[in-house]
Amino acid sequence: MKTEFAPLKNDLLLKALKGEKVNRPPVWMMRQAGRYLPEYRKLQSKYSFFERCETPELAAEITMQPIDIIGTDAAILFSDILVVAQALGFDVTIEKGIGPVIHNPVTKVKDIDRITIPDVYDKLHYVMKAIALTRKELNGRVPLIGFAGAPWTIFCYLVEGHGSKTFSGAKKFCFTQPEAAKKLLNIIAETTIAYLNAQVEAGAQALQVFDSWSGLLAPEDFNEFSFPYLKRIVKEVMGVPVILFPKSSWYAFEELGKSGAEGLSIDWTVTPEFARKACGNEITLQGNYDPSHLLSPVTTIKMEVHEMIRRFGVQRYIVNLGHGILPDIPVDHARAFVDAVKSYEEVKTV
Ligand code: CP3
Repeated sequence: MKTEFAPLKNDLLLKALKGEKVNRPPVWMMRQAGRYLPEYRKLQSKYSFFERCETPELAAEITMQPIDIIGTDAAILFSDILVVAQALGFDVTIEKGIGPVIHNPVTKVKDIDRITIPDVYDKLHYVMKAIALTRKELNGRVPLIGFAGAPWTIFCYLVEGHGSKTFSGAKKFCFTQPEAAKKLLNIIAETTIAYLNAQVEAGAQALQVFDSWSGLLAPEDFNEFSFPYLKRIVKEVMGVPVILFPKSSWYAFEELGKSGAEGLSIDWTVTPEFARKACGNEITLQGNYDPSHLLSPVTTIKMEVHEMIRRFGVQRYIVNLGHGILPDIPVDHARAFVDAVKSYEEVKTV
């Protein structure tokens, strides 16, 4: 049974994703709940990373932090893309100074045979609980975004075993054992679809699929090892708008614009004009401020954000960074980014 939640007071994000008229674009930031916030660091020193993810009260509290502190127009659930790897039977830890480590990665074809599609309600029940609790605490202030990693990006971690600049181990597996690779990609895709649909049922009002490492693939390889699974997710996830973030895959913009997704998140390596022209008018663009530019003086941030909105246009646009916020960004600068969007309307009419 679907729980009843309070009606939305700020529906800018959902309007932008539907292509409805807005007076200013909505704004949120990838990784907005995280290490640049002193309130987050306090909890970080008390609980391990996955303790924070697995305790619905903590996940909800962390999700709310940027809404209260910097005032974004959407909340994104505090969790991690690698909880899906855990549900698939992988032993994942986040190591200080290293990042995610998979202690039992896929090294041979036989390793894939032992993987079965999990019951996401059983293995990831805490995520659905955190979503329901966060919706209650948000009380309609802003919409809640759920998310998952794209099959290709999850595959990268499962095969490589850790982060990498090239993910050449994951690529080698694709190029030498393509059928086995696709078997694993399909298992991840099927699990991700069930997981995202469960998030919607629990109360997620929009979804983002993070394909952080798609830009490492050549266009042909993206079409073989990433895009089909993104399309399958878009087709089989029901009920709320989906934003795809195939980072740096600008070569696929035209096709991505026709993928059926409501939103496409883009990074800072492309201009707004190029993205608009290549993607067509059927998709809402999200992005694409370079997170390091948040280290600029506050007055510069404001000017650059206004210029970015002018170039993307107010309609069918969501202001965001081109990737996650960095841990060394001053909170005042993150707030200046959000405030600049909120003041855009006034500046335009002066
Ligand atoms: O956007 C949000 O605020 C929601 C929270 C969120 C986290 N991870 C929290 C987190 C989201 C959406 C993610 C997604 C995620 N996780 C991605 C896709 C987005 C991207 O940045 O490309 C990826 C590739 C991961 C895998 C992962 N988990 C990495 C690379 C790291 C960073 C490791 C490090 O120490 O720098 C993590 C850990 C992680 N996930 C942290 C946070 C806040 C940092 C660890 C901590 O706070 O203790």
